[in-house]
Amino acid sequence: MRDLAEGGVYEYKIEPVGVIPKEYSDIPGPKELPFIGNAWRFAPIIGQYKIHELDKVMWSLKKEYGKIVKVGGLIGHPDLLFVFDGDDIKKVFKREEGMPHRPSMPSLHYYKQHLQKDFFSGNEGVIGVHGPKWDAFRKQVQQILLPPATAKKYIEPLDIIATDFLTRMETMLDDKNELPEQFLSEIYKWALESVARVSLNTRLGCLEPNLPENSESQRIINSINTFFWNVAEVELKFPVWRVYKNRAFKKYIGALEDFRTLCLKYINQSMDQMKDKNYDNIKEEDISIVERILIKTGNPKLAAVLALDLLLVGVDTTSIAAASTIYQLSRNPEKQEKLFRELQNILPKRNSKVDNNVQENMPYLKACIKETLRMYPVIIGNGRSLQSDTILAGYKVPKGTHVIFPHLVVSNSEEYIEEPNKFMPERWLKSGQSGGCPAHQNKIHPFISLPFGYGRRSCLGRRFAETELNILLAKIFRKYEVGYHYGSLTYKITPTFVPEQPLKFRLTERSC
Ligand code: HEM
Repeated sequence: MRDLAEGGVYEYKIEPVGVIPKEYSDIPGPKELPFIGNAWRFAPIIGQYKIHELDKVMWSLKKEYGKIVKVGGLIGHPDLLFVFDGDDIKKVFKREEGMPHRPSMPSLHYYKQHLQKDFFSGNEGVIGVHGPKWDAFRKQVQQILLPPATAKKYIEPLDIIATDFLTRMETMLDDKNELPEQFLSEIYKWALESVARVSLNTRLGCLEPNLPENSESQRIINSINTFFWNVAEVELKFPVWRVYKNRAFKKYIGALEDFRTLCLKYINQSMDQMKDKNYDNIKEEDISIVERILIKTGNPKLAAVLALDLLLVGVDTTSIAAASTIYQLSRNPEKQEKLFRELQNILPKRNSKVDNNVQENMPYLKACIKETLRMYPVIIGNGRSLQSDTILAGYKVPKGTHVIFPHLVVSNSEEYIEEPNKFMPERWLKSGQSGGCPAHQNKIHPFISLPFGYGRRSCLGRRFAETELNILLAKIFRKYEVGYHYGSLTYKITPTFVPEQPLKFRLTERSC
């Protein structure tokens, strides 16, 4: 079987025919204890699975049990089926296309559909929402969000924000020309400023010097962080919140409420300003996503809920992708030099603007981002809740099972990637692109590294994230040589895959 992958043509394995499938109960996996199944494994102290170390758990499951692993007996949670085979991942993604159900965030579902039912009723959004409600909402918004042409409209304002961020970076350098310990929080400010500009046509002021801890922008960032920090506790441990609203759950809901109220102020402001706007002579970049949706649907609640979803998931993800790419390039000076040469060709000066033409002509930068997301996917695994019975790896798998695609493990496995620990952007260059590596071209399985997901449920903000990253990283690596002098970073799950140590990058301004 052959399929057209983004990087070329990939040869799939031929599925065996006439083989009788084995029973679901025979799928290997950690033994369930009587009554408490496998849930104890996530319990504090006695459990061997630490929520913040799920990456290690996934590696050990594969090592111990093989390409398909069942973790059953999770109290209050369907079985988790870890699938480490690219062809099986493809099979599930392809057959769930009609109504893909990502088994995530029942607690967010509870928040939207019970605690804040009056607000979200009829317009639940896409995050934590499934089935016909998700489908109806997504259909209304995706035609505006998904086409690359929409993201391109915002290149100029995003370039201005990236320029402001570089200015801010310079003011933060210490006497060794290193960025401060909390540099990741600074990147968050760039990401929030960018997503708010695109969604609401608003500059929040996140990049102002000395942003007070109690400022609205800082509180929005804090609420997003608190939400993500607690989501793993709430979702992956025993779902005690269903019977008792514990501390993690209260913090999680508190963060969501803070986030919703703070953002609504800006969303409403943006909608009020629409009344006085003459859309006949306005620049495309000054029409926000919320305005586009409102013009298309005439439904202010839908536009507001979409903005909330975009702001909620569009900050943490893009920030970590930016941080990880800067880190990889700082650890691989010869790749950084190659990138610099590409950028020097298309950006004549250290402060040149990134426009659409520039963005279209930086294949090596794009390959660096892809390679970073292969090695360090921001979301370490995706999943689908099976909507019908199927056969995977020769076993019968019933409807309702939560199939997990552990991309971090699969895209760093030698079965699929030669020398997976090597940062080699060349693997992603197409034949004919300068620097392309003939040994790797067209050989990467198209379903092992899917940092933005796949199909009808894939990331709605992908084009915005890519545009933001292209612009920021092009500007940084055109202007500076970036070093990191503190050994290798380690990562933890929050549930995004985030570096643990301070990102004290050293910046040396290029001479030309
Ligand atoms: C590098 C940055 C980002 C990464 C790696 C990322 C990754 C992902 C992934 C893996 C999914 C799940 C897809 C699936 O189930 O197939 C997703 C969904 C989503 N993302 Fe992103 N994302 C990023 C940035 C953004 C940004 C900037 C926004 C908003 C402006 C955004 C909005 C969304 C939304 C709304 C969904 C839910 C789509 C749905 O369920 O229908 N993402 N993202």
